[in-house]
Amino acid sequence: MKKQIKTKGKLIAPAVGIALMALPTAAYAFDVPVKSMADALYLVLKSDRTAYTKLVVNRLANEEKVIDASEQWEEDAALPLPAQMFRAGAEMTLEESDGKFSYSLLSLWPINSQNAARTKGEKDGLKFVFDNPGKNYYTTETLGGKTYYTAVYPDNAVVDACVSCHNGHDDSPKKDFKLGDNMGAVVIRIAK
Ligand code: HEC
Repeated sequence: MKKQIKTKGKLIAPAVGIALMALPTAAYAFDVPVKSMADALYLVLKSDRTAYTKLVVNRLANEEKVIDASEQWEEDAALPLPAQMFRAGAEMTLEESDGKFSYSLLSLWPINSQNAARTKGEKDGLKFVFDNPGKNYYTTETLGGKTYYTAVYPDNAVVDACVSCHNGHDDSPKKDFKLGDNMGAVVIRIAK
């Protein structure tokens, strides 16, 4: 069975290569609409965020109790919080893309007031994803003379660690989050 699949792959791969060489215009079929691009970026961000929260923070800090997760992770030799990991990546992306792509994690009930919505697109988007579970919000914004495609995706409590940490945090304005609740949103911006 294994052998058959291998042979198939060998035959198909050169055939695809030849087809692409013969039809250079076919590449246009792969131009990605901005919405699909934002959706794909979100899927990667969400998957990485969930994987870190489940496989690292929830497992090692909450279940196995071998290491804490802490806002002061450097001083405490602890794990950075999921939101801090997310921001570290966001800062690198913003810098490396020269401002072309950016993303952030915001909330209507932020622990860190820096994570409150500021622009109209962010405010409308956060409210929309809260009022319409399972839906995303898309708009365009002009900020500082630049036009952006802005997409807002719900950020939900996927594991107990999300709920217990936020509900127990002194600075959290909301203390009754439940598993599965909407806790905020991921905002992705793509410059025109
Ligand atoms: C161990 C504690 C902890 C865990 C676990 C945790 N958070 Fe947070 N979260 C925080 C703290 C503290 C902040 C603010 C950090 C900052 O901006 O520096 C934050 C920030 C956020 C924000 C941005 C708005 C705000 O509150 O500042 C959202 C949305 C969020 N978390 C959702 C989640 C979700 C969903 C999960 C689970 C996947 C999760 N958090 C897991 C502590 C935690």
